[in-house]
Amino acid sequence: MSSKEQGGEGGEAAEAASRWSNCSTSYNLGSGQPISMPLIQSGFDHQFFPLLDAELAKRGGGGDPTKEPSSPLRILSLCGGTGAETLTLCQRYSADQVRILTTDISEGMLKVCQDTLDKRGLGDRVETRIMDATDVQAPDESYDVVTLIMGPMLLPDPEACFRHVHRVLKPGGLLCTMTPGKMGVHDVMTETRRRLLEDLGREKDYKSVYDQDMFRLWGKPELLSSRIESTGLFVTVEARCDQATILLPTVEVLEESLASLRDNPGTKQAYCKDLSQDQVSRFHEEVRSEFFRQRDSCQDKAKFGIEAQTNCAWAFKASK
Ligand SMILES: C[S@@+](CC[C@H](N)C(=O)[O-])C[C@H]1O[C@@H](n2cnc3c(N)ncnc32)[C@H](O)[C@@H]1O
Repeated sequence: MSSKEQGGEGGEAAEAASRWSNCSTSYNLGSGQPISMPLIQSGFDHQFFPLLDAELAKRGGGGDPTKEPSSPLRILSLCGGTGAETLTLCQRYSADQVRILTTDISEGMLKVCQDTLDKRGLGDRVETRIMDATDVQAPDESYDVVTLIMGPMLLPDPEACFRHVHRVLKPGGLLCTMTPGKMGVHDVMTETRRRLLEDLGREKDYKSVYDQDMFRLWGKPELLSSRIESTGLFVTVEARCDQATILLPTVEVLEESLASLRDNPGTKQAYCKDLSQDQVSRFHEEVRSEFFRQRDSCQDKAKFGIEAQTNCAWAFKASK
């Protein structure tokens, strides 16, 4: 494997790889799935699976596991992380229906992905490979589907990624992508940070997370679809908002979810980058208290959770 494929060349890619590897072991909860899994599952159930089912039906496989399609869908997962979308795909489709290559820039994230798949007996169904989503190492027109889930908003040059996706998709191939929308967890963190800065006399440093680039540029379905459309490379670009509740039914799940959010590089960047170590600790303690306060006032603890939205977009490569 070349150093470029490993994200070892060029500061930015190597830095991203190392930041994500550092949080890889707490990205998944005890359930073996990331905190965002309900969002990803919901997006696939409502938006992407119907499109994949239709493609399989054309090949004679449909959603019926007893029927084999004439050929499996070849799927490339970019920014695949610990494998949430890979797992979702493997749970729905058989090995005859889909063949998946899961990639990510972070070796640590991919290792957790491989372990998760192995534990579920799915290890031999999926190939994993370290890869930068803005420098995709795959032959032209070699995939039917590319997934880019919770990834576009992290890339320094997302349009470069879209150009690669277009190149590696077969004519008529499908891009399925997702970015975060409004989320209860961000509302809590935003408000906590606002109060903390006010206490420190630093009101001027407050900016709602929804005014930060990740949400300002990607946080609504129309923003996501217009970024894809403006490349001029895809047809039928559509995007919708999808909703889900991230359930936190026990104190243990709540604690491990908070730990996962604390270690997430996106959270660190959005809320803590200009705070001292003590202030970061105080921020996390106040976020934790707020979640426990909300839990205490919830009648049915088993249904306590975080309301969240995602933006799901799909785009086809023109058949020419
Ligand atoms: C928010 S996580 C999403 C992971 C997974 N798709 C999910 O939804 O659970 C973002 C992932 O993108 C990866 N990543 C960041 N920059 C990347 C790049 N330039 N190329 C490939 N992967 C990248 C990170 O390592 C991380 O695993």
